Amino acid sequence: MQSAELSQDSIAFVVEPGGSLAAQLRVPGDKSISHRAIIFGALAEGITEITGFLEGEDTLATLQAFRALGVNIEGPEEGRVKIHGVGLQGLQAPEKPLYLGNSGTSMRLLAGLFAGQPFDITLVGDRSLSCRPMGRVCDPLAQMGALIEATAQGTPPLHIHGGQSLQGIEYAMPVASAQVKSSLLLAGLYATGSTCVIEPAPTRDHTERMLMGFGYPVEREGAKVCVKGTGVLRGTAVEVPADISSAAFFMVGAAISQGSDILLEHVGINPTRTGVIEILGRMGAQIEIEETGVVGGEPVAAIRVRASRLQGINIPEELVPLAIDEFPALFVAAACAEGETVLTGAEELRVKESDRIQVMADGLQRLGISAQPTPDGIIIQGGALQGGEVHSHGDHRCAMAFAMAGLAAKDTVTVHDCANVATSFPGFLELASGAGLKIHCTG
Ligand code: S3P
Repeated sequence: MQSAELSQDSIAFVVEPGGSLAAQLRVPGDKSISHRAIIFGALAEGITEITGFLEGEDTLATLQAFRALGVNIEGPEEGRVKIHGVGLQGLQAPEKPLYLGNSGTSMRLLAGLFAGQPFDITLVGDRSLSCRPMGRVCDPLAQMGALIEATAQGTPPLHIHGGQSLQGIEYAMPVASAQVKSSLLLAGLYATGSTCVIEPAPTRDHTERMLMGFGYPVEREGAKVCVKGTGVLRGTAVEVPADISSAAFFMVGAAISQGSDILLEHVGINPTRTGVIEILGRMGAQIEIEETGVVGGEPVAAIRVRASRLQGINIPEELVPLAIDEFPALFVAAACAEGETVLTGAEELRVKESDRIQVMADGLQRLGISAQPTPDGIIIQGGALQGGEVHSHGDHRCAMAFAMAGLAAKDTVTVHDCANVATSFPGFLELASGAGLKIHCTG
């Protein structure tokens, strides 16, 4: 067990009532884009320079994995990383299993990439990652010719046997998952023929955008995206925008607390990620999108959110994949809204870093809110948040969502098990407290 896991239960956030958010700030870099910048930078010919890289535990796990595969990576230093790419055939066998911590994105994407290497690799994760389903990538990768062993439950560790010859397939994904899509496209870089993935609903498309940014041909036709294993990646500059998934906590915090007015700078607003803006807008949040632009093939904007009167809504199912990581924060918005909010079609939330439906329902109930879990969603009646003690179950996004709930609560909210906030949002406590959240940490 790693030291971060040992200390996990001992860090708690304590939030005193009466705070509000007033600030202009930039949250850390996008996690999904940071992972991909390391992966493609390592596989490229030549140098890749990344700015705005997220120095969180998840993305550092990906970075360390490539160092263990012989890639020379300088940094990170204040979000700058320089990668000396080794080319698609240049990775070397690691000396020991690769530990990927809490990071499902690292495990699933790298499983696809490593399926096409000439050597064996074992991937391991922390307690949470070791319970997450990997059959969704291992099964289609096996159809391509990969040889991967998981536990009988289809969970990590993954033992990936090298030296297999992969063939392209056309795969219709049963779940809308960018991780599965990206894993297969990465395997497709090493396969004969075309590898095509068909999405049941649009999912984040950072892999496709970044492949093209590195000069690798990608074909998209409607819901189908294809790569061929004949291309080359060329090192480039990647500017990582601020993560909309991290900005979401401040968006919700500002919307639910009287007198708040927050400006979030340089946030990535890729249309496959903006479900949170759409859902909060439908709930009546005062949101303005300002200063739009494009960096590294990704749209960015400043997002202003002010204190708002929120209404409960039925969340349209087509928005679920576009806001998949923002539901813990959105459930807090629903708890502060007038009336009922109903979410359906979101069973995926049960297999994230925690069972986010159960963990959020339990916590909101402890804070005096009626929150009824359903197999594929939740029904929340808006009401008056009380103080109390809640548990994040080691889930970074649940921890930060509950911390923001403290802005609207009548009494102190204590959130247990918060160490994993560092996986996606290093410096959350300082940034949130600087913006006006009355938060401190114990343990
Ligand atoms: C991610 C995709 C999403 C998301 C995860 C990051 C990615 O998972 O929840 O935090 O970077 O591809 P799924 O694609 O499995 O929904």
